[in-house]
Amino acid sequence: MKILVLGSGGREHALVWRLRQDPQVTEILAAPGNPGIAAIGRTLAVDLDRPDDVLALAEAEQVDLTVVGPEGPLDRGVADVFRAHGRAILGPSRAAAQLECSKIFSKTFMARHGIPTARFVVCDRADEAIAAVLGGHFGPPVVVKADGLAAGKGVVVAQSTAEAEAAIRAMMLDRVFADAGRRVVVEECLTGPEVSCFVLADGERAVWLGTAQDHKRIWDDDRGPNTGGMGAFAPSPLFDDALADFTTRKVVEPVMTGLAAEGESYRGFLYVSLMLTPDGPRVIEFNVRFGDPEAQVVLPLIEGPLAQAFFDAATGTLANVQLTLAPDRMVGVVAAAAGYPGKPAAGDVITGLDAAAAVPGALVFQAGTSRSGDNLVTAGGRVLTVTGRGATFDAAMKKAYRAIAAVHFDGMQYRQDIGRKAKHT
Ligand code: AMP
Ligand code: GLY
Repeated sequence: MKILVLGSGGREHALVWRLRQDPQVTEILAAPGNPGIAAIGRTLAVDLDRPDDVLALAEAEQVDLTVVGPEGPLDRGVADVFRAHGRAILGPSRAAAQLECSKIFSKTFMARHGIPTARFVVCDRADEAIAAVLGGHFGPPVVVKADGLAAGKGVVVAQSTAEAEAAIRAMMLDRVFADAGRRVVVEECLTGPEVSCFVLADGERAVWLGTAQDHKRIWDDDRGPNTGGMGAFAPSPLFDDALADFTTRKVVEPVMTGLAAEGESYRGFLYVSLMLTPDGPRVIEFNVRFGDPEAQVVLPLIEGPLAQAFFDAATGTLANVQLTLAPDRMVGVVAAAAGYPGKPAAGDVITGLDAAAAVPGALVFQAGTSRSGDNLVTAGGRVLTVTGRGATFDAAMKKAYRAIAAVHFDGMQYRQDIGRKAKHT
């Protein structure tokens, strides 16, 4: 099977790395990829914002399956274009991708299908949103969410009504996220640990791929501004059988049947993020792709014919594939550039990757890197993820941290506490 992976981050590096272990995969391409991916597969230039160009590439290369990494191309309809031309692609249609790309679609879909989530109200105008905040039904604290994609910055957990009002004004009147903030969701603030799970869906069936916990804040002990994710561990010790069963019955199955009832079908990765509140689990959000850095800690644990499972999900035939999860623990630590999550510094020389990868049980996945002459240099906020694998979280943490200590670039920042929450489980 010849596979094309779309994207250029650590998640895509992990997808390519894992698919290469699969004996069924004869060739693996990535577009646009990154230098880490280029070392293990063939990378090709393409503008992921242009679905027709992506299709032309897949046709020219005669790939059997295209796997979509990020949500952007799905929101632009890449899966619709591929399916209209009879070409297999793993990723939902543009309409189904609104589960992630529109908070209003996602929340109202959950309400229509009885999926447990925070109480909310959809607001078309700033005065409505401010009235909803001042009405006090949702707090403070209260959460304001821009409807559209806002590079991970569209959610404000406001501790006071003044903070919520400022967020509403910034989104709806000042349009800091352009059209993504034209409408907002105001919702109750939930409390409890956050956990994630990942399934692979074929329109009717869903196969469990694993669980993880992300670390979204930039600094240790979950302090500081939000990021795309500074590290993750897998599996989540909070995800017991009862929670897995709950998630399947109350979340995943209703998503599949709900979309089908609305004339859509869901083929691709579904990432469910849950908050375990005192009143029970609630969906915080859906993503229509794998997580980053969660992919880097979940994919290496999946055993079995993954390429076949991806192909079967893409073509609606996911009945017979058996995937299992290795009993190991994985911890992944993100090394970010100076300035991240604000404007990151670029062009700093990265050293020590070979030494890091030589630590037994460690892997290095590149993201914001590029080649400059003979050097590898930083070229993005999240530069790379270093993972460690072991029989216990303690062992996995030791390996990840020993490996990342070998890596260097100016201004490198990483958290020291990834995996600590799980350490004694
Ligand atoms: P998102 O951009 O949707 O991933 O949200 C970013 C973060 O905001 C989540 O990871 C949660 O920590 C937090 N968040 C979102 N919705 C709520 C809520 N209703 N209550 C408390 N925290 C929330
Ligand atoms: N790590 C969070 C995400 O991929 O959305």
